[in-house]
Amino acid sequence: EKGGFPYFMLKEISEQPDALADTLRGRLSPEGSIVLDEERLSDQDFRDIDKVFIVACGTAYHAGLIAKYAIEHWTRLPCEVEMASEFRYRDPVLDRSTLVVAISQSGETLDTLMAVKHAREQKARVLAICNTNGSTIPRESDAVLYTRCGPEVGVAATKTFLGQVAACLLVGLFLAQTRGVLYGDEVAAYVDRLQRMPELVRRTLGTVEPVRELARSLAGAKAVLFLGRHVGYPVALEGALKLKELAYMHAEGFPAGELKHGPIALIEPGLPVVVVVPSPRGRANLHGKMVSNIQEVRARGARTIVIAEEGDTAVEPYADHLIRVPATSSLLAPLVTTLPLQVFACELALARGLDVDQPRNLAKSVTVE
Ligand code: M6R
Repeated sequence: EKGGFPYFMLKEISEQPDALADTLRGRLSPEGSIVLDEERLSDQDFRDIDKVFIVACGTAYHAGLIAKYAIEHWTRLPCEVEMASEFRYRDPVLDRSTLVVAISQSGETLDTLMAVKHAREQKARVLAICNTNGSTIPRESDAVLYTRCGPEVGVAATKTFLGQVAACLLVGLFLAQTRGVLYGDEVAAYVDRLQRMPELVRRTLGTVEPVRELARSLAGAKAVLFLGRHVGYPVALEGALKLKELAYMHAEGFPAGELKHGPIALIEPGLPVVVVVPSPRGRANLHGKMVSNIQEVRARGARTIVIAEEGDTAVEPYADHLIRVPATSSLLAPLVTTLPLQVFACELALARGLDVDQPRNLAKSVTVE
């Protein structure tokens, strides 16, 4: 049942183009709009919303952090993302015009479920993004959008993360479309880009072989840092989480702009630093700022592992290892930049002789608080 792969995780990484296509299937209309038929909130409910909260744990929380950038940019609604384990203990301000999006692969994570119950008690509208049909979180929510990625056996979330990110992007575009914040042709342009993503994911996975070699060469490293900016920051957090849980290695993700506020003190000669570089076509010269950050850590001896768009030549002089991903629009980039990080963590753990499907101390679904 591992389809010829030695581990479920390797199989699930390889299934991502199809998993992503399955999340998107039927939800992108040929006319260029977003269709979310199956969830049970009305268009009027969506129009009445004045604030969005996203609650989730672990990898699903990282999907939520990515969603915040897209939702605020597209809908102009304030959006907060919170770890479900903290949400209800701090008395969040919720009412019937709040949309709470609960993201959970299993649909059984107890902290996320309790956050959903708390939100509904406060009369908020709750939309679940979930991979497991008929699980508890969708049952307790007002509406559900299934990611339809198929069963995920490996403890580390891979294909379902892509599904969660895609589902969040669909929700963001749907909100913007329903509330009339984006013009029809703007939504249509994103629909077109999303349609192409499964193919870009396939292409990216076809080029990750050098990442495996690199990961094997780092099997003895003590720690790895991950840097990102904008949506690349949650991707950095996700890369670090994968490395912790699979390779039992000290790994931290930082927003690159925070470096000089403390983390740069960690840099010592030979320390591997993975950098998720924003698109050179993106906003606010984030790309140029990131190139400076790469120079800063390299000048202090870091071994830089740079994930950058095809055609981005500015990073070349400062990359000890350069991993290319296809060009996409900034908000969709996590769907490709995450892939080399999954492969990196998986391969590094295998090189350390570890079981990537069953990491120590972890369960696939966490049904205790
Ligand atoms: O089933 P859920 O999506 O609610 O699970 C949330 C986390 O426990 C989960 O994403 C965990 O962090 C993964 N093992 C990460 O790979």
